[in-house]
Amino acid sequence: MTTRKKKKIDIVAYRKLLCENEISKGLAKTLKEQIIFPIENFLEIGTGTTDFMTKHFIIEERNKNISKFYAMEPVDEYFEESKRHVVRLSRTDAITQEYYGGNPFDFVFSAFVLNHVYPDQKLKFLKNVRENLKRNGTFMLVDSLIPTYKNEDDRKQKVLDHYKLQADYAKKSKQDCLIKYFDSIVNKSCDDVWLGNYKISVEDMRSLLEKARFKNIQIQLFEGKDKYDWKGLGYYIIRASN
Ligand SMILES: C[S@@+](CC[C@H](N)C(=O)[O-])C[C@H]1O[C@@H](n2cnc3c(N)ncnc32)[C@H](O)[C@@H]1O
Repeated sequence: MTTRKKKKIDIVAYRKLLCENEISKGLAKTLKEQIIFPIENFLEIGTGTTDFMTKHFIIEERNKNISKFYAMEPVDEYFEESKRHVVRLSRTDAITQEYYGGNPFDFVFSAFVLNHVYPDQKLKFLKNVRENLKRNGTFMLVDSLIPTYKNEDDRKQKVLDHYKLQADYAKKSKQDCLIKYFDSIVNKSCDDVWLGNYKISVEDMRSLLEKARFKNIQIQLFEGKDKYDWKGLGYYIIRASN
């Protein structure tokens, strides 16, 4: 498994973080508007607690808008939680396995996963996704990306600035769950599984998708309702096809 995990994941705290957070609510609303159904074989990589989009996909399957919903979740605590909701769930690590049950897929979705994948494994992750997509199939991912940087030191500084901005936004918008989360990151008391430490820029993301031979790459900045430096916060919805 590529994510470093030091302590047991607190599912209740992670769920609270997602469910009480206006950014994730806004992102989920936008995604629900943008994903066009019906879709036949659908895969989600990294379901986590299932609160962000997974439960929505399960409802779409129940409503016959998705023919078959598959998911993979390699982290034990998240797997146990996801198993309570997802029928076709595997423990597959998207990097080490080249075959996912149910492939080739019409649509692959992944939210806040790539930032947890080591830099030298991101390309393998993306190539695996593309190779398991049908021709013209869609890959959609959501992640937070940092601004353009000059070198590795500058990248580290931009990551820190990025988290400071997240902490500032949380304080300004009075979102207690986010304040605790981003403060713990800035103070470095946070576990890697939460952090998503291996952040890349918009340019890196485009270049990796191109190297993985994706086509029709679209990288869209998410902007919430209130006035803020949304580019600095850096939430993006990314779409590419095989
Ligand atoms: C921050 S959680 C996000 C969970 C969920 N998508 C959400 O938005 O709430 C990060 C997720 O990335 C998954 N992940 C990290 N590395 C992975 C890999 N190599 N293969 C599959 N999933 C991975 C973890 O298992 C975890 O579910």
